[in-house]
Amino acid sequence: MELEELKKKRDAVILAHYYVDGEIQEAADYIGDSFFLAQKATELKEKTIVMAGVYFMGESVKILNPDKTVLMPDIEADCPMAHMVKVEDIEKMRAKYDDLAVVTYINSTAEIKAYSDVCVTSSNAVKIVNKLKEKNIFFLPDRNLGSYIAKSLPDKNILLNDGYCPVHDEIPVDEVRALKGKVKILAHPECREEVLDLADFIGSTKAIIEEAGKYDRTLIVTEEGIFSELKRRYPDLDIVKLSKHPICQDMKKLTLDKVKEVLEKNTNQVHVDPEIRERALIPLKRMLELGV
Ligand code: 13P
Ligand code: SF4
Repeated sequence: MELEELKKKRDAVILAHYYVDGEIQEAADYIGDSFFLAQKATELKEKTIVMAGVYFMGESVKILNPDKTVLMPDIEADCPMAHMVKVEDIEKMRAKYDDLAVVTYINSTAEIKAYSDVCVTSSNAVKIVNKLKEKNIFFLPDRNLGSYIAKSLPDKNILLNDGYCPVHDEIPVDEVRALKGKVKILAHPECREEVLDLADFIGSTKAIIEEAGKYDRTLIVTEEGIFSELKRRYPDLDIVKLSKHPICQDMKKLTLDKVKEVLEKNTNQVHVDPEIRERALIPLKRMLELGV
């Protein structure tokens, strides 16, 4: 069956992140960064949502839509950073500080969200942390996004956790430095501080795409899936690539055939423990309120 027929049969809509294969982005009803996708997921009328991304994205969609069927094209596609923090770490920090907010990047498990005060994405982390009344902020799991927030908000005491994105953390700073001043450098805040210090612009995937439209030539310091949308929007843009451009192997596990297969068989459904879901919904909803 063709994709459109399958969507009709399941009353389905397809959401895709900018890092998945271009073919899936073309087929999707909505493409976006993590914040856009979470927001969009609350506005859909269809009964089935296919979340073309990694597991935490499907989980967040399910937490926000418990009565809908959420399908993942590849349920094994997971973000390693989501697992780089333990509940005990949160409990220890809560015991240490009275005036503490636990702020969790959306790239995290539902269980960790359930123990958090508010979620954020790369597009709204600084804005949301700035709105919190607490001075001490335990930021999870990404140490790089955490130190970017700390630099942006010096009045806050940002307590870092040692998680990181293996894709962004390994970006070779020397290569980026060699291009400084020769080309506009647009970077994702999951990159290391040394890389971010060289950037002309720091933002989420969506923000990078919007910013790139202002220039003729840019070095894009994030996962290469973003190039599909950049090429669609700005066919004349000269995109400079790193010699070994970062690729998220998990995002690349998804194929258009897998999208069709889950729609056909109604498989790879996301399930979240009801108690965890109820608790994780609170920080996610708070993010939707504070992040706009
Ligand atoms: P965005 O929220 O910027 O889309 O990023 C998600 C992500 O996983 C980055 O590695
Ligand atoms: Fe996770 Fe990094 Fe892949 Fe984003 S790029 S999904 S943070 S591993």
